Amino acid sequence: MSQSILLGVSGGIAAYKSVDLVRRLRERGHTVRVAMTQSAQSFVTPLTFQAVSGHPVGCDLLDAATEAAMDHISLARFADQIVIAPASADIMARLAQGMANDLLTAVCLASTAPIALVPAMNHRMWHNPLTQANVQRLKQFGFAIWGPAEGAQACGEYGLGRLLEPEEIVQCIEKKISNSPLHGKTIVITAGPTREPLDPVRFISNRSSGKMGYALAQAATQCGAKVILISGPTALTPPKGAQFVSVETALEMHQAVMQHVQNSDIFLGAAAVADFRPSENSTQKSTKQSVGSSLAITVNPDIIHAVGQLNPKPVIIGFAAQTEALESKARSKRIEKNMDVIIANQVGHVEGGFDSDMNSVDVYTAEEATHFDLQPKVELAHRLIEWIGHYYGKKTKHSTENIR
Ligand SMILES: Cc1cc2nc3c(=O)[nH]c(=O)nc-3n(C[C@H](O)[C@H](O)[C@H](O)COP(=O)(O)O)c2cc1C
Repeated sequence: MSQSILLGVSGGIAAYKSVDLVRRLRERGHTVRVAMTQSAQSFVTPLTFQAVSGHPVGCDLLDAATEAAMDHISLARFADQIVIAPASADIMARLAQGMANDLLTAVCLASTAPIALVPAMNHRMWHNPLTQANVQRLKQFGFAIWGPAEGAQACGEYGLGRLLEPEEIVQCIEKKISNSPLHGKTIVITAGPTREPLDPVRFISNRSSGKMGYALAQAATQCGAKVILISGPTALTPPKGAQFVSVETALEMHQAVMQHVQNSDIFLGAAAVADFRPSENSTQKSTKQSVGSSLAITVNPDIIHAVGQLNPKPVIIGFAAQTEALESKARSKRIEKNMDVIIANQVGHVEGGFDSDMNSVDVYTAEEATHFDLQPKVELAHRLIEWIGHYYGKKTKHSTENIR
């Protein structure tokens, strides 16, 4: 699968190797655009990268000509994957602090694409505790670190700090996609809240932001899965490469799911679907008098339960958000709704969960329980998709063995 790759180049001797990296990535069908730091331009000219990438090179954040087109935002949107090679000690320090003081760091902050750093520096710079602390912090926030390699260095010394070879970097990029058991599989993911209208201006909804579902959709897309994201109203941008179906109410979500889930391999229900809706949806704005002191409600269809009744059914993975007795409620919900896996998260007066950027979950199947620590949702999504790929690989292997 070809990808749109943004190659960031920062200031180090190894910058010349990235010219070859661009050539190799293009030979494999990837579209490559390049953004350079100011220091990088002292090592290799933007013109060289423009010639090998076939695109203008992003160099300046505060450039009147390019900024009219909001270069940092358009590059952030372009990228399926950001790779910074070489990554200097300096750019890692800036990224670890969330700085956005040049084009490349601003793009990284504005992008939801996975970011891999390929460090290259003198071995003492690499081993310096400050650099190591930055590396740890970057990992915590979901950055991948590829390398460095050990060997002779440009400064004449020997040690850990060499840039990985261009071919190794290409393999790191492509391994992520082709190795996943989810590659080529169809995954239907629901996300966000639903809105249940009472009248033209009012609705019943919940606190779901959709962040977890969108992050899962993005991580699955990056594993080469064909993702259909069915989402209630959120403030988020759908991930590139996913088929996006926008819905508002639980009834619309139910209909969209039943339409798309038939030939899917996995159904991942991350939406916070309203359990009930107002029985009346008035065409006119209701008044205190017309509503009175009680509201008649109707129970909405249970989407996961409906998917669980299909034959054949996809592998079903649901979420359980509970304020108490999380494990027992999650385990019984899994059985009741014929789910294969349930991902349980505590909500209410805890860190993480609804509307937060962080989350911690427990995953239950009939056979096992796995805990995922509190971490950024984007990072957790990658871990969960990795886990789901592993589970799916095991499950489908067993069912083919049973058929034989
Ligand atoms: C000749 C020369 C080679 C350098 N090589 C490296 C290097 O390999 N790795 C590194 O982290 N910094 C290296 N530096 C230092 C960086 O260029 C410097 O920290 C710069 O501020 C990095 O800016 P940037 O991160 O915005 O690209 C080198 C500096 C010079 C003068």
